[in-house]
Amino acid sequence: MTEIGSQAKVDSLRHPVATGHPPQLAVIVPSFNERGNIELLYEKLAIALGATAWEMIVVDDNSPDGTAAVVNEMSRVYANVRCIRRFGRRGLSSACVEGMAATSAPYVAVIDADLQHDEAILPQMLEKALAGADLVVGTRFAGEGSAATGLSATRLSGSRLATKMAAMIAGQPISDPMSGFFLVRRDIFENVAPKLANDGFKILIDLIVTSARSGKPLQIAEVPYTFRPRHAGESKMNPLIVIQYLGLWASKLSGGILPPSFLLFGLVGVTGVVVHMATLGLFTYSLGANFVISQIAATMVAMTWNFWLNNNLTYADRRLHGRKLVFGLIGFYAICALGGIANISVASGIYNLDHQTFAAGLAGAVMSSVFNYAVTRAFTWK
Ligand code: GDD
Ligand code: MN
Repeated sequence: MTEIGSQAKVDSLRHPVATGHPPQLAVIVPSFNERGNIELLYEKLAIALGATAWEMIVVDDNSPDGTAAVVNEMSRVYANVRCIRRFGRRGLSSACVEGMAATSAPYVAVIDADLQHDEAILPQMLEKALAGADLVVGTRFAGEGSAATGLSATRLSGSRLATKMAAMIAGQPISDPMSGFFLVRRDIFENVAPKLANDGFKILIDLIVTSARSGKPLQIAEVPYTFRPRHAGESKMNPLIVIQYLGLWASKLSGGILPPSFLLFGLVGVTGVVVHMATLGLFTYSLGANFVISQIAATMVAMTWNFWLNNNLTYADRRLHGRKLVFGLIGFYAICALGGIANISVASGIYNLDHQTFAAGLAGAVMSSVFNYAVTRAFTWK
């Protein structure tokens, strides 16, 4: 067998693209409905990066507007462009991770498709990485940087708060931990890639915290820029993304002991108690049903509520649809029933020890929550 890279093999496979320079820098562009931006972005990157050997990898979640088709057309003209197209999945962070994992370039940058990030600072970012920084962040909140032109007043204050929260877990000073614009050495990324959370928008802070936790805190440099208004299309930021960020943040605050999905599952459980009580009140007081009937109805409503919310929030990245949704719900009822049995047996066991009603009740509730979390994670949202 000939080795990869042996002269004979290279000669036999010689092809116009293969004769070019291998890329020094891969620019990863996560995209969802960015048809109107992608070509202009490429042109601007080409101007900014000049003679650097670079490639653009667009990671598109099968955008309904046909972004992938535009990128594929571009690939036929520019040899340094390609599209990774994902089906049945959504998510900015996971798109970045998969894009970064798909290149051989020693340096990788992530940039939004909508032209909000100033591509003109990329050469400066690369220079800092070549000079020894592990990670170079484009910042809107230091030096000459600014975000006022690209964010509404509400988004700006939300962004400030998220930035302060991020600073609490980053463990080192960084002015724009929520930035979606950064450049990193690929080996640094690869060290932690399997451990990165895949949901939401917070890839950068996750990269920093996860590296620090693995005992390799990053050398971070920053380059300021002015955040521009979006060119074409709409932002995909939504309340779900904010909640997913809160989940990651709380998880990192716990030292990574409690996974974000467990915290979100718990939060959903708390809302389920409220739904349970409201349904109970409705059945007994407004509809005049007896207690047992009302309690059964409240339990069913609360379980259905919890299932729906977990499907759309905790496990939004692996949301069930169609038949799987129906089977998932039935399975969820069954698992919750088992959780209830676990709850009662643990609680009564503890109660029999020393008759501490609340301690026993709490232990039972914790037991069934952990049980429900672990089992639904293994079977319902696997
Ligand atoms: N593949 C893929 N899948 N790409 C996505 C998805 C998704 O589910 N959601 C968003 N994107 C892409 C968009 O197409 C865009 O290129 C980029 O990710 C940023 O999305 P926007 O919708 O433009 O986000 P934003 O402008 O509200 O948020 C930006 O600023 C935040 C800080 O204010 C992003 O850079 C965030 O990372 C950053 O935290
Ligand atoms: Mn944007």
